Amino acid sequence: MDTPQQEEDKISLPPQAKWWVDGQRSRYKGFWFKPEFITASEAIRAHYKPLPSDIILASFPKTGTTWLKALTSSILRHSSTTHSDHDHLDHLNPHEVVPFLEIEVFGENPSKEITEISSPRVFNTHLPLSFLPETVKTSGCRVIYITRHPADTFVSLWHLYNNKFGTEISIREAFDEFCKGLVPAGPYFEHVLEFWEARDRVLFVTYEDLKAKPEENVRKIAEFLGCKTMVEKVVKDCSFENLRNTSKERGEGVHWSGTKYDMFFRKGVVGDWKNHLTQEMMKELEDLADLKWRGSGLDL
Ligand code: A3P
Repeated sequence: MDTPQQEEDKISLPPQAKWWVDGQRSRYKGFWFKPEFITASEAIRAHYKPLPSDIILASFPKTGTTWLKALTSSILRHSSTTHSDHDHLDHLNPHEVVPFLEIEVFGENPSKEITEISSPRVFNTHLPLSFLPETVKTSGCRVIYITRHPADTFVSLWHLYNNKFGTEISIREAFDEFCKGLVPAGPYFEHVLEFWEARDRVLFVTYEDLKAKPEENVRKIAEFLGCKTMVEKVVKDCSFENLRNTSKERGEGVHWSGTKYDMFFRKGVVGDWKNHLTQEMMKELEDLADLKWRGSGLDL
């Protein structure tokens, strides 16, 4: 049950916001989402009972969600200790293998029966930690959060929106809105901070570290999931090139969000922001991070 403050918090997005070419957004508990995701989060809090064996992959959009889904499925598939028939990445997009809690699981049917799903159940979410049931922190389920530098996250999001909707949101306008948090699942800084503050229970992975040391990170994720896996094979099967090629071979598949599957694979590099943002814009992000993350131990 929401408090009056939370009810009041369901505020519609200011009309000048440029990102929302695909419909209405509302603010709930300080975060911007499509109203149906807010409704789904209520269903998740009411009906989702995490099992100790559940695995939840959490992320802000465009921080490496698809990659983390692929890696986790592949780790489980090639595990000598856990049986899972989860990974079919040779012909499926990672988004078809791991469902979103707020979409495929509880978005379509708020009281969906999920006890039949074989263990370990793997779910994904873009919802902040505060939108999930408290039992996510106490049930012993495993939460992995992937994050990425906000500059590359922003650039990736900007490209996706322009591509998907055939728009050209000016980069300056889009950037200002990103900094104000007026983006899907925004604000970015608060989203990261919520999971960071729960890092005694959440495994934190960064896109940049995953790029620099994929084997080490895959080993770390596998250990966190309590399994041994074929590290080199997992890294190779989930490489940007491999996943993109599978997606291309598959043709014109479209994800529930209206995103074509191959749009999840654009450049896959660290530092593309340098081709799009000025040093002043980067400084703005650094100042924001300093303001919002001060004292938390997080920095850019
Ligand atoms: P770019 O747009 O910078 O290329 P998400 O999955 O959260 O939507 O994030 C998408 C971003 O992750 C895109 O970044 C995409 O190219 C990148 N990506 C997807 N799969 C990847 C992989 N296997 N390795 C590295 N980057 C990957």
